[in-house]
Amino acid sequence: MNRTGSGCTEALLPEGREKPAGQPLWLLAELTYKCPLQCPYCSNPLDFARHGEELTTDQWIRVLREARELGAAQLGFSGGEPLTRPDLVDLIREARQLGYYSNLITSGIGLTERKVADFREAGLDHIQVSFQASDEEVNNMLAGSAKAFAQKLKMAREVKAQGYPMVLNFVTHRHNIDRIDRIIELCIELEADYVELATCQYYGWAYENRAELLPTRAQLERAERITNEYRERLAAAGNPIRLIFVTPDYYEERPKGCMNGWGQIFLTVTPDGTALPCHSARQLPVEFPSVKQQSLGDIWYRSFGFNHFRGDDWMKEPCRSCDEKEKDFGGCRCQAYMMTGDAANADPVCSKSPHHDLIVQAREAAENPAGTGFTYRNERNSRVFCRG
Ligand code: FES
Repeated sequence: MNRTGSGCTEALLPEGREKPAGQPLWLLAELTYKCPLQCPYCSNPLDFARHGEELTTDQWIRVLREARELGAAQLGFSGGEPLTRPDLVDLIREARQLGYYSNLITSGIGLTERKVADFREAGLDHIQVSFQASDEEVNNMLAGSAKAFAQKLKMAREVKAQGYPMVLNFVTHRHNIDRIDRIIELCIELEADYVELATCQYYGWAYENRAELLPTRAQLERAERITNEYRERLAAAGNPIRLIFVTPDYYEERPKGCMNGWGQIFLTVTPDGTALPCHSARQLPVEFPSVKQQSLGDIWYRSFGFNHFRGDDWMKEPCRSCDEKEKDFGGCRCQAYMMTGDAANADPVCSKSPHHDLIVQAREAAENPAGTGFTYRNERNSRVFCRG
């Protein structure tokens, strides 16, 4: 199948046609799309239910080894919920032997004291527990589970008790951002070390639910101001907690240098073994290779998918002649595709983009939300997108 529209049907490029690439320093291992929660801002693909069998333990171990040989040093285990994989301890042990710095990105659902101890013994470096909100009702409404909040609190405490730094992640949006003070108070109470207050990024289910999630500019500015006030107060009191505030690019005038450039340092492998230059690229009309068929070395250096948006010869105006293209690489290919239908367009976040009005319209819509309700991320809703 040729999904590139370029006339190139080879899975691998002929020798000499590869473009310059760095090493894949960061490997994101999306072990599974299974998840007990239903967060409406999940970055997984809408049609995750269509994607086939998960890689076996041996196949994952081969991926870890090959990526390490290519230079990968940071490894994130994510999903879905990676705790649903019964072989997680084996994969952690392998990662430790290979010399990775490994991070488990989890909702905490399915975690137990025993598992935390097993992961520690196997050599896991870092556990990040995500929360949906600071209060039980909103948290559980967003997670689609009545028990989620209590379990998260318990497991966050357990992670810290077993000697890990406490790393918490709160995805913020219009439904919880006004409670940023309560979120920070909860983090202080839990004695968190690092807190990511990450405003929702609009990919996957979050893009589908954007009208319900995008905060207003006033909400964002207030949240950032309160976070800064807390930072000052906490530093003055000698509290070492680090608050990291991430704003959505919808309120910027220049795009982010997404993934530090296409196929430059990030490598994602999905549950069924598809290799991607970012977690969202699967939706693009570009054919991506599978680790079941090719080595990671061939995939990284020679596959059509990984070379496609490397460098700048694919760029159109205004990116092509822009003096900022070395800095932002034209922004995010996935965002350009989702919003304009062409992944080679400039990211509409950029005020030089002819499609920037789409971003302005989304900001305006956030001022007067229609209140349409969420499409939750679950198997049933995903099947609807599989048909579409
Ligand atoms: Fe795919 Fe930005 S998320 S290129």
